[in-house]
Amino acid sequence: MTPEALVAWCPAKVNLSLRVLGRRDDGYHELDTYFQAIDLWDRIEVRPHDRLSLACDDARVGEGPDNLVLRAATALRGLAPVPGVGAAFRLTKRIPVQGGLGGGSSDAAGTLLLCARLWNVDPGPERMQALAEALGADVPFFLFGGTAHGTGRGDRIRPVPYLGDLPILLGVPAFGMSTREVFAALGERLTPQAAGVSVRAFSGPKCRGDNDFSFMINDLESVVFAARGELRTFRDALVDAGALGALLCGSGSSVFGLYPEGFDLAPVARGLRERFARWTVVATRAVARGAYVAAPAEGGAG
Ligand code: C5P
Repeated sequence: MTPEALVAWCPAKVNLSLRVLGRRDDGYHELDTYFQAIDLWDRIEVRPHDRLSLACDDARVGEGPDNLVLRAATALRGLAPVPGVGAAFRLTKRIPVQGGLGGGSSDAAGTLLLCARLWNVDPGPERMQALAEALGADVPFFLFGGTAHGTGRGDRIRPVPYLGDLPILLGVPAFGMSTREVFAALGERLTPQAAGVSVRAFSGPKCRGDNDFSFMINDLESVVFAARGELRTFRDALVDAGALGALLCGSGSSVFGLYPEGFDLAPVARGLRERFARWTVVATRAVARGAYVAAPAEGGAG
């Protein structure tokens, strides 16, 4: 029986490290990155419909065919046994746009899972990975979630042991960054020699026990901080307030601090809101899951 309505919960991510190893022939950059899903979620509700339609509660998000929800649905519809099936989506945005938090990519992954359930299609893991890759470099991660290692364009995913529910403080400035422009600006600086050094210098997270957070490096900080000095100031404030490590999120514009287990973020968040009045400060934590589908009544996030 086709369900009446279904919901996908789609988490944000941070990159615990992001090393750029070089430029690729396809215009993308070769990455070595560790992703971490966090407890900040977009919600997508879907109902059966005679065509594909999208409504979003955030006026800054386009509802046209370029939206990753509709692109993902269109891609999956090609596999549906009944041609011409449709779906009506309602997207509730909670993940800031252009913040480097992967919101659009997570929505795409959630939509693939949602449509597979709605239309009773089982693409299998390899087909699902291919569909996700075609939608964007960050999309495959959200099919896994938790803590994961990404190589290639960041789309070759290998799950690693979960970091644990560590507290994370996010700072979101009033402006966004374009991923494409940040990579383009970095590309002019990249040399093959520098890329080689990055590879050798890299080591992954030691997830539990004797933690060493010196692996937390984001190679995109150099270009982004040069253009937007206040992001560096915020990141340094996160470290001064006791973070194990603090970094730019992906290509920005958000920054995050990772704190020790049991750390009370509330007083730090209060202080930062006073000092950085134009920023949105979000107290959250790491989560073990990725995008997933639930019945509407199941209060999903968390
Ligand atoms: O794949 P996605 O559309 O999310 O990527 C946005 C842009 O970011 C790409 O068009 C590309 O310019 C840049 N990018 C890159 N290398 C990556 C990922 C993204 O150059 N590994």
